[in-house]
Amino acid sequence: MNQATTNTPTLGRLLVYGLGLIGGSLAKAARERGLCREVIGVSRRQSTLDRALESGVVDRVFSDAREGLRLLEPGDMVLISVPTLSVKRTLEELRDCLHSEVTITDAASVKGSVVAAALEVYGFFPPQFVPGHPIAGSEKSGVDAANAELYVDHRVILTPEPATAPHHLAAVRHLWEGVGATVSLMPWNEHDEVLAATSHVPHLLAYSLVDTLARMEENREIFRYAAGGFRDFTRIAGSDPVMWHDICLSNKDAIIEVLDRLTDNFQTLRQAIARDDSDYIMGVFTRAKEARTHFTKMLERKAYLEPMTTTSLIYRTQPPAGSLSGRLRVPGDKSISHRSIMLGSLANGITRVSGFLEGEDSLATLQAFRDMGVVIEGPHQGEVTIHGVGMHGLQMPPGPLYLGNSGTSMRLLAGLLAGQPFDVVMTGDESLTKRPMKRVSEPLALMGAAIETAEGGRPPLTVRGGKSLQGIEYPLPMASAQVKSALLLAGMYASGETVITEPAPTRDHTERMLSGFGYPVQRDGAVARIQGGGTLAACDIDVPADISSAAFFMVAASIVPGAELVLEHVGINPTRTGVINILRLMGADIRIENERTAGGEPVADIRVRYAPLSGIVIPEDQVPLAIDEFPVLFIAAACAQGTTVLSGAEELRVKESDRIQAMADGLTTLGVKATARPDGIEIVGGAMGGGVIESHHDHRIAMSFAVAGLVARSEITINDCQNVATSFPGFVSIANRVGMRLLELKA
Ligand code: S3P
Repeated sequence: MNQATTNTPTLGRLLVYGLGLIGGSLAKAARERGLCREVIGVSRRQSTLDRALESGVVDRVFSDAREGLRLLEPGDMVLISVPTLSVKRTLEELRDCLHSEVTITDAASVKGSVVAAALEVYGFFPPQFVPGHPIAGSEKSGVDAANAELYVDHRVILTPEPATAPHHLAAVRHLWEGVGATVSLMPWNEHDEVLAATSHVPHLLAYSLVDTLARMEENREIFRYAAGGFRDFTRIAGSDPVMWHDICLSNKDAIIEVLDRLTDNFQTLRQAIARDDSDYIMGVFTRAKEARTHFTKMLERKAYLEPMTTTSLIYRTQPPAGSLSGRLRVPGDKSISHRSIMLGSLANGITRVSGFLEGEDSLATLQAFRDMGVVIEGPHQGEVTIHGVGMHGLQMPPGPLYLGNSGTSMRLLAGLLAGQPFDVVMTGDESLTKRPMKRVSEPLALMGAAIETAEGGRPPLTVRGGKSLQGIEYPLPMASAQVKSALLLAGMYASGETVITEPAPTRDHTERMLSGFGYPVQRDGAVARIQGGGTLAACDIDVPADISSAAFFMVAASIVPGAELVLEHVGINPTRTGVINILRLMGADIRIENERTAGGEPVADIRVRYAPLSGIVIPEDQVPLAIDEFPVLFIAAACAQGTTVLSGAEELRVKESDRIQAMADGLTTLGVKATARPDGIEIVGGAMGGGVIESHHDHRIAMSFAVAGLVARSEITINDCQNVATSFPGFVSIANRVGMRLLELKA
C-alpha cells in the first residue's frame, strides 16, 4: 500500500529497469509518495524480483522486460538503472516495443556514452529520452539497500539534448523533485568532466590504494592496524566493481585528464618530500585544508553542487536583567589584520601574527593570498604564520579572487596587484558590488595601471598585470585610508616617489606597518611619501583589539544606568579614537588605563561607566577618525538629552550600506526623531520603542541596533545580521556574557 498519497499522480506507470540501490530507491520513493499509479520492476534475477516485491519496492515485477514494456502507454515512464555499459543493450530492447510518447530516462554516472548509445541505437536522438544522473549513492548495493529517502536534499543532474522534448523533460524533473531531489540541467560533457574529478577519480584512488596494499602479501597484516584515515579514505573501495568498471571505460577521456594532472602533482609532491621542501608540502596541505573546509561548509548547507546560500540571521533584543559589567577583549583590529596578511605575504621570511581577526573580511584577504600561492598557516585562535614570498613572488591565482563583503580587501589589493606581472579579477558580494571603486582605479591609472571596472566604476575589477608604474603626486579628493593605502602599496612597485596628500588625517596603519617591516615611508603632516623598489623584512605582529568593535560596548556601558565595562588591549591609535573623543564631548565617562605599545600601535584598556549623555554638534575634524563608529554613535545620540548634529560625513552613504539612511530609517521605526541630510544626520534624543529593523546586511547597523535594545521599551528585531561575522565573530556570545540579552534566530 502507498504510505503517503498526498501527491496526485501525474505519471501513469513507472517501469524501473534494474533494481539496484539507485533504481530500487527511486521505485520505493515514487511508490511511497504516490507519484505514479503503478511501479513495475524489471530485473534478470528472480531473487531480486522476489525481494523487491516482498519489501514493497515495486507493485509488479517481470524478468522478461518485453512483457512489462508492452503494458506502457503514452504518459508512462521508463527509468534505466543498469550498469553504464548495459544501457545500449537496454535501449535496443526499448526501441522495438516502446511508444514514442513514453518518457525514457536513465541514472548512469556517465552521460556522454549514454547519449552516444542512444544515437547509435535509434539513428537519431529520441525526443522522449532525458538522460539523467542522481548524485546519490553509497557503498551499499542491491535491492535490499533501497531507501526511499535516498534522494532527499540530493542533486539530480539532467543532460537533455536539443532534441529532447520539453514535456518529457518536465515529467522527469517532476518525478525527481517529487522524491525530494533538486534538479539541475547541464550539457553532458560538463557533467562528465565534473564527475570525473569529484567522483570517478576518487573511486579509482581508493580501489588502487587498497589493491596496492593488499597485493603486498606481507601487508595483509597491516590492515589490522589501519585506523581512521585508511578507513575513511577507502570506504568507497567497497562499492560495486561492475558499476565502476563500466564508469571507467565509459568516461575514459575525462578520467584520464584528471588522472594525468593528479599524477603530475603527486610526482611533484613526492620530489618535495624527497628534498625536505617543507614550504611546498605546507602549501599543498594548507590550500587543500582550506578548500576542504569550504567544501564541508557547502555540504552542511546541502548536498553536492548546491550554490552557497547563507541562512539569514535575526537578532532579537530583550532588556538586560541587571546592569552591564565585566572585562572583555573584543576580536582583533580588522584594518591591521588585512594589512598583516598583505605585507607578510610580500615580505622575505616568516611573519607571525597574533590576535588576527578571524572575521570573514580578513579571511577573504587571507584566502586571496593563498590563491596567489602564499603558504599561510592558521588562523588558530588568532595565530597566523605567513611564509612570505618576497615582493615578486606572488603567482597568478587560478580564478577570480572572491572578496565577499570586504571593501578594504578590494581597494588595497587593487593597488598591490597593479604592480604584479599577471591579470587578476576581483569580485565580491552584493553589497561590495555596489561600492565605488573609481576612487582607486583613477589614481592608479595615473600611475600607469590598467584597471577595468564594471558600469559606474563598480566591481568586479580586472587588474591587468605587467604594467610599469610611475610614482605620482596625488592630493586625495576624500579622506580615505583605503585609497591612501592602495596608492602606497602600488608605490612600492612604482619607479620614483609616490606622494600622497590627505585632506584630513585618516588611519595610518599601512604607514606604521610598512615601517615595522623595514620599508621606509616618510610622513610630514598631511603628506606621506614612498619610494618604489624596496623590500619588506618579515616581523611579528600583535594585532590589538578593534576599537571599532569595542565602540559598541563603549556606547552600551554609557547608556545603561549602573554599567561599568573594561575593554582590554584596545588599539588607541590617534587616527582611530574619534569615537572616544565624541562620546566624551557628549559627557561619557571613559578612562584610558594601562597604556602601552604593541607591534608599533598604541594600545590600552578602556574603562567605561554609565553617565548621562547630551546632544552635541559633532566637530567635522572628528569624522574621519570615527568613520566606522557613527552607526553606534547615533544610538548614543538617540539616548542623549537634546539634539546631536553630524555634517561633513557624506562618505557614510557609500559604506557597506548607506549608513545615514539605514540609521535614520531604523531610529524612526523606534520612534526617535532622526532626519537624514545629504552629508549627515540630526537626531533628537528621546525614548526608544521596539520594532523591526532592516540592517541592510550591514554588520555595523545590525550591532548598533542590538545596543539600542538595551534601552528600548520593547523588543527590537533586527533582520539580516549574518554579516556581523565579517568584523565581529562571536558578537552575540560576548555581548550576552557582559549582561546583554540577545537572541540569535535563524530565518
Ligand atoms: C579602512 C578605511 C576606512 C574604513 C574601513 C577600513 C581601512 O574606509 O571605513 O572600514 O582599513 O583602511 P575609507 O578609506 O573608505 O574611509
